[in-house]
Amino acid sequence: MKRVYFTSFGCQMNVLDSELVLGDFKRTGYQQTDDMRLADIVLINTCSIRELAEEKVWSLLGRARLIKQERPALKIGVMGCMAQRVKEELIRRAPHVDLVLGTSNFRSAVQDLEDIESGGGRVVRVAKRPDPEFLPDADRNVAARPDAFRAFVTIVRGCNHSCSYCIVPHTRGGEVSRPQAEVWAEVERLVADGVREVTFLGQNINTYGQDLHPQRLHTGAICDLLEAASGIEGLDRIRFLTSNPFDMTEDMMRRFGSIPKVMPWLHIPAQAGNDALLARMQRTYTVDEYRTVVGWARKHIPGVEITSDFIVGFSGETEEEFEGTKALVREIGFMQTYVFKYSLRPMTISARRMPDDVPEDVKKSRNVELLAVQDEAALTRNRGLVGRRLEILIEGISKSDDRRVTGRDMNNRLVHCEGDAAMAGRMAIVEITDVAAHSLIGKRVALESEVGSWSYRGYGGGAASACGAETVSA
Ligand code: 5AD
Ligand code: SF4
Repeated sequence: MKRVYFTSFGCQMNVLDSELVLGDFKRTGYQQTDDMRLADIVLINTCSIRELAEEKVWSLLGRARLIKQERPALKIGVMGCMAQRVKEELIRRAPHVDLVLGTSNFRSAVQDLEDIESGGGRVVRVAKRPDPEFLPDADRNVAARPDAFRAFVTIVRGCNHSCSYCIVPHTRGGEVSRPQAEVWAEVERLVADGVREVTFLGQNINTYGQDLHPQRLHTGAICDLLEAASGIEGLDRIRFLTSNPFDMTEDMMRRFGSIPKVMPWLHIPAQAGNDALLARMQRTYTVDEYRTVVGWARKHIPGVEITSDFIVGFSGETEEEFEGTKALVREIGFMQTYVFKYSLRPMTISARRMPDDVPEDVKKSRNVELLAVQDEAALTRNRGLVGRRLEILIEGISKSDDRRVTGRDMNNRLVHCEGDAAMAGRMAIVEITDVAAHSLIGKRVALESEVGSWSYRGYGGGAASACGAETVSA
């Protein structure tokens, strides 16, 4: 029995890419191990978005090298954004690495390993175009997914934007959409295997499909895809990310709101709350335009909740600009925000043209401050949920308390309630009794399969939450 040790850094797309590769290894008979010393191959899926993510990989490679010194048969592979970005440096600084697979060419890992083991020497595949024989999303092993009832599905890879701080267009290249029929078939296979909720992934899902129809600027292809997927029997919930503020139209929001299986949650990264700062970031919208997009969402998607990303300490960020960001977080009332300290990335526009001039301690304190603003606002909003009934899809036993189960509500909030493993994969209605900034606790009011038919559509605490009758039809 051969063993693969696999570690993954970075975004949801990396989580899925890791699943795809692990699926190939499992199909070939490999077992997964979480002990590097027992592995035949150590494979690391890497992220380049911030420097820290790359530093972690270098230190992991150092550990792997020590094991390889004792056991030279161990093979070491690096895949993903860092493999794409620093291929030469990787080989120079880490000559013990046998396999380097970029962001478009990682599905050949099993085959490449066989070639290396039969004496073929190091393999480096970093072409920007995928090898047609090993397309990134082909022939997914659906049984290899980590969650029984939820799955990610990539719909578009890469990004056509040029936000000045961002390395992604360099590491993942321009947008490449998967044809709708192919996505649909993958979702069908997942649903046939027990999945009830899918999350479609893309760096910018708004322009999904435009590269497939270059002759016409078709802005609604994402909505067509969602409508098609919502026709799949057995699929209950559809989510997607990322919805950037640019390339979004009111009509798209209207269509999102009209598809009942599309959950009322949008991830709309703002990055900053000041126009000059947004301009330096090359985000191509103003704070006011951001407000307009959020306004469309709240107008057309009943009960919608918004989450967001922010960068603090970007080049030249003044105290006044940062105050603007804090004000936007207070004003919008995000369900959750992710805050990142600006990290200068080689090759980006900001690295070439703008100094990384906000001191580290200022970045740190702004990060803490912005999170505190967000947590306070989230806690206040969540307190308003006490006594409300929410529909959750139960994922399984809670990691922190084995007398509880954990699920997500329609807005994607984490909810805990009393229960046991047999409830996994079912919907439940939970009445909220206690809240924190990042999760809710409730008591179970009804469980799917204990009532005749399930037609609950009570939304959470979103801005338009007046809608949605809170009833369970038996
Ligand atoms: N430094 C810090 N954060 C970054 N992000 C992207 N590039 C950088 C960078 N150079 C953040 C953005 C993006 C999220 C995925 O990561 O907020 O939305
Ligand atoms: Fe990076 Fe901007 Fe593209 Fe997002 S939209 S991946 S932040 S370049």
